[in-house]
Amino acid sequence: MFSSLAIVAAFVASVSAIAVTSPGTSKTWTNDGSQSITWTAVDSDPSNFTIVLTNVSRAQNRALMPTNNQILKALVLTNALSTTVDPPSEGWPAVGGTYRVNFCKSSEELNTILAQSNEFNITAAPIQSGSSTTTTTGAKT
Ligand SMILES: *[C@@H]1O[C@H](CO)[C@@H](O)[C@H](O)[C@H]1NC(C)=O
Ligand SMILES: *[C@@H]1O[C@H](CO)[C@@H](O)[C@H](O)[C@H]1NC(C)=O
Ligand SMILES: *[C@@H]1O[C@H](CO)[C@@H](O)[C@H](O)[C@H]1NC(C)=O
Repeated sequence: MFSSLAIVAAFVASVSAIAVTSPGTSKTWTNDGSQSITWTAVDSDPSNFTIVLTNVSRAQNRALMPTNNQILKALVLTNALSTTVDPPSEGWPAVGGTYRVNFCKSSEELNTILAQSNEFNITAAPIQSGSSTTTTTGAKT
């Protein structure tokens, strides 16, 4: 655990002051629809960045890491301080843990990480009571 934190710290550029405030330890995502991301920043930060979803469990195996970055949104303006991201075309990854959102310099420079969220879980969306749609949730075999 400690060694993986050290690796992560080495990746995060020390010049940036962007800090991801959500998702994180107390604010998770569900696997249904758009999810929100919020952050804080200072004037000296880059004007935009690319948001990437990573699977922390997999990232600890560095050999698998290159295929593990899911770009969620590119050219996000830093001074917006929040955005919503749509699910990838194949949908959100498996419910559970553990994931991180990385803010990368650009979609071509995913190894330059400006900021990183705390680890968070993706949880199953609550079943909406009173919904008129009889969902097929759970039908997947
Ligand atoms: C995005 O940021 C880069 C610097 O990282 C800058 O060169 C580029 O002009 C910016 N693009 C937009 C659309 O703000
Ligand atoms: C995340 O990585 C772990 C470890 O490699 C793997 O077991 C799990 O299936 C991965 N989850 C997703 C959604 O890719
Ligand atoms: C997140 O998922 C991991 C792995 O499934 C689990 O160990 C952990 O307790 C979960 N954390 C929360 C806050 O649900």
